[in-house]
Amino acid sequence: MNGVIVVNAYIKNKSQITQAQRLAEEFAALKVDCKIIKNVGLAQIKNGGIESMESDFVVFLDKDKAAARMLEKRGLRLFNSSAAVEVCDDKLLTHIALADNGIPMPDCVYSPLCYYPDAQIDENFIDETVKKLGLPLVAKNCYGSLGAGVFLIKDKQMLYDFERENKLKPHFYQKFIGRGGEDIRIIVIGGKFVCAMRRKNPDDFRSNIELGGKGESYTADENLIALCEKVAKILKLDYCGIDVLTDNDGERYICEVNSNAFFAAAEKVCGVNIAKKYAEFVISCKNA
Ligand SMILES: Nc1ncnc2c1ncn2[C@@H]1O[C@H](COP(=O)(O)OP(=O)(O)O)[C@@H](O)[C@H]1O
Ligand SMILES: [Mg+2]
Repeated sequence: MNGVIVVNAYIKNKSQITQAQRLAEEFAALKVDCKIIKNVGLAQIKNGGIESMESDFVVFLDKDKAAARMLEKRGLRLFNSSAAVEVCDDKLLTHIALADNGIPMPDCVYSPLCYYPDAQIDENFIDETVKKLGLPLVAKNCYGSLGAGVFLIKDKQMLYDFERENKLKPHFYQKFIGRGGEDIRIIVIGGKFVCAMRRKNPDDFRSNIELGGKGESYTADENLIALCEKVAKILKLDYCGIDVLTDNDGERYICEVNSNAFFAAAEKVCGVNIAKKYAEFVISCKNA
């Protein structure tokens, strides 16, 4: 059996490189030939069909839906699938996919699509959004990670300004949950809970490690485990990192689901070899 780990063509972030290397190491330890390749020229449309590389499996660490779909159309098995990556790449589409399944999520209000730089913001939309979500509230770009596209909106003026400045980008607004600066990151592989890490940041409402959040091992209870396993199943994810918020009454809410979650911090604080578990899962699927 031989496989590939596909990384972004322009990869430069150290966490992305480490992620791929850790996985490659564990495949090698399991005696499976698996090399890291960049997402360049893996497939193309040719003579009205698709021509692609060959591989027994592809651990797809990029988010390039065109490349992913072409490889799948040629019959390659991707971990995660293109559909799962696409749904998770857009935070609002993730919430929509999870809706109607009994999954607790913060209330969300979408911002209407806008094509015109000179368009005027509807004051009524601002008033209604505050009425629905309360203040403070959270503004999120649909695409984004590492906390970069997530903002705290404290009053109506801020909301108005944010909407005006971001109207051309897909984004949405979300109810603010809990006290801020804290969440739980859960890793799920093959539909099974692997480990949980609590992240806390005293200096920012975003608990992302990349923004200074500190991780600690967390003992997840049965309900939390069942919730996260259900989320992974609905979204058909082979591997994911799920962010869970807790409100002041102890109720849990799914904040977002990362199909390409970095596992280095969770491996370190939880003392779990996540890369090995993921590699074992991939191999078990191929051997099934
Ligand atoms: N609705 C919310 N209420 C309170 N805190 C939030 C909310 N949404 C996000 N956060 C905080 O911001 C962080 C980043 O948000 P998240 O949606 O996970 O985006 P990213 O993909 O950038 O990690 C979360 O880990 C959490 O600490
Ligand atoms: Mg997150």
